[in-house]
Amino acid sequence: MSEYDPSTYGDRVADMYDVWYPGGNPAPMVDRLEALAGDGPVLELGMGTGRIALPLAATGVPVHGIDASSAMVEKLRAKPGGASIPVTISDFTEFDLEDRFSLVFVVFNTFFGILDQEDQVRGFQSVAGHLAPGGRFLLECFVPDLGRFDRGQRLSVAAIDDDAIRIEASMYDPVAQRVTAQVVCMTESGSRFYPLKVRYCWPSELDLMARLAGLELEHRWGGWNEEPFTAASGQHVTVYRKPG
Ligand SMILES: C[S@@+](CC[C@H](N)C(=O)[O-])C[C@H]1O[C@@H](n2cnc3c(N)ncnc32)[C@H](O)[C@@H]1O
Repeated sequence: MSEYDPSTYGDRVADMYDVWYPGGNPAPMVDRLEALAGDGPVLELGMGTGRIALPLAATGVPVHGIDASSAMVEKLRAKPGGASIPVTISDFTEFDLEDRFSLVFVVFNTFFGILDQEDQVRGFQSVAGHLAPGGRFLLECFVPDLGRFDRGQRLSVAAIDDDAIRIEASMYDPVAQRVTAQVVCMTESGSRFYPLKVRYCWPSELDLMARLAGLELEHRWGGWNEEPFTAASGQHVTVYRKPG
């Protein structure tokens, strides 16, 4: 089997991504990002097929993206407006762009695609180095819920119809804080595998990484409409600010 690297998830899932994760109404996210962006420019880490970048760019904010997967970016390019968004094909753990941004953002748990703590710290430092004074770093992440696992593993059915079944199998390593998963699609003609690995963090660990990178916690919401973040929140939207 080929080795898992930053492009693997996107390259394998690109044909199915927009079908499986249509994402609902992007308006609350786009409105929030536009408000935080000011005059821009902004940078999205893991831009993918442009679910958020395309409607954000349509507001007039200059948007730049980074993604490790050429297959995901090809899907973006094929959409109206997708050809004009500058995208750097690179790992976002460590990157070097000329621009300085008013906002860098990474949504849909994508920051957890950096698979160890040391690299996540470097990711924060890379972002901090690309923010203009007063610039912001926004992350949308799940809050880890280890109760989903039974003795370190979980199997669930994501979709089923008369001709196919899609199941999600995952195992977690509490020491590395890593979840290794496969989405498996089975039909009468065979199976396809879509691997995914993440290193999850609690919000407090992200806060520490931000402090190491010289960023200050500005907001933590339970959702995109400024819902309070509480013990019951399953996700958070967090904004760090570089002192201006
Ligand atoms: C879950 S998708 C999110 C796409 C898009 N932001 C959205 O919200 O629909 C994650 C994206 O991040 C990219 N990605 C994951 N880890 C990466 C890394 N270390 N460096 C660069 N891109 C990465 C994948 O190729 C994929 O396109």
